[in-house]
Amino acid sequence: MAMKLQVVGVGKDYLIPVIERVSFSVEAGEFVCLLGPNGCGKTTLLRIIGGLEPATRGTVLLDDRPVVAGDAHSRKVGVVFQEDRLLPWMTLAENVALVLKPLGLPAAERRAIARRHLGLAGLAGFEDYYPGRTSGGMRQRAAIARALAIEPDVLLMDEPFGALDAQNRRIMQNEVRRIWKETRRTILFVTHSIEEAVAIGTTLIMMSARPSRLRETIRNDGRIERAKLIDDLNTMIMEEVERQQGGAPS
Ligand SMILES: Nc1ncnc2c1ncn2[C@@H]1O[C@H](COP(=O)(O)OP(=O)(O)OP(=O)(O)O)[C@@H](O)[C@H]1O
Ligand SMILES: [Mg+2]
Repeated sequence: MAMKLQVVGVGKDYLIPVIERVSFSVEAGEFVCLLGPNGCGKTTLLRIIGGLEPATRGTVLLDDRPVVAGDAHSRKVGVVFQEDRLLPWMTLAENVALVLKPLGLPAAERRAIARRHLGLAGLAGFEDYYPGRTSGGMRQRAAIARALAIEPDVLLMDEPFGALDAQNRRIMQNEVRRIWKETRRTILFVTHSIEEAVAIGTTLIMMSARPSRLRETIRNDGRIERAKLIDDLNTMIMEEVERQQGGAPS
């Protein structure tokens, strides 16, 4: 089941403050794209939301219950990283089935679920291929299938198509949009590409330069003309990149 996500005053300091304070909320079943200049803390924020890292300030709520970093079993959060992170010595189906093991399902059921999700990701017929024998686009689909197989309440994607060529990228954008329509998961999707965000997100969130805050939240409901929206977002990101370059080094 999709869950509502609330980020409440979340901040993170490493050696320098990275995220000052960010608050936003994502309704269940929304597809949110997160944009912002390099190094503003997008990956850090995703890791905090996923419970992979503690916040320095603030709280993340999933359906009103706080996410506790390291407490992996309290929530089902699917994560897709920029690189596919598949194990090369396992087939695609085995890679997907592996993440189901901690859920305590019997082996036959794990295999069936893995095959079903590979099918959903457009990989029917390739279940028994090893990652090394498939294309980059196929591996990224398998990584998406793996994230979806646990039936996550929230799906976090960190520039999942960054390593793909333009054509594969467009295909994958359509695929992820289709999967989202079919499964209605809450998705938080980080991207560098404004065109990509405008093409697939229902809500666009722009972070500011580091130490970051929220610069803008835009409902991508077609009310603003697409070309103008892309233009406005490009202007915003250029301003933030300039601000960041004027600040501390990354
Ligand atoms: N584990 C860590 N320890 C110390 N500093 C870190 C750590 N992780 C990230 N940082 C710093 O936090 C800042 C934000 O990093 P982060 O990867 O979250 O940014 P990002 O917005 O995802 O960048 P990019 O657009 O390049 O992916 C950077 O300055 C980075 O050096
Ligand atoms: Mg990043």
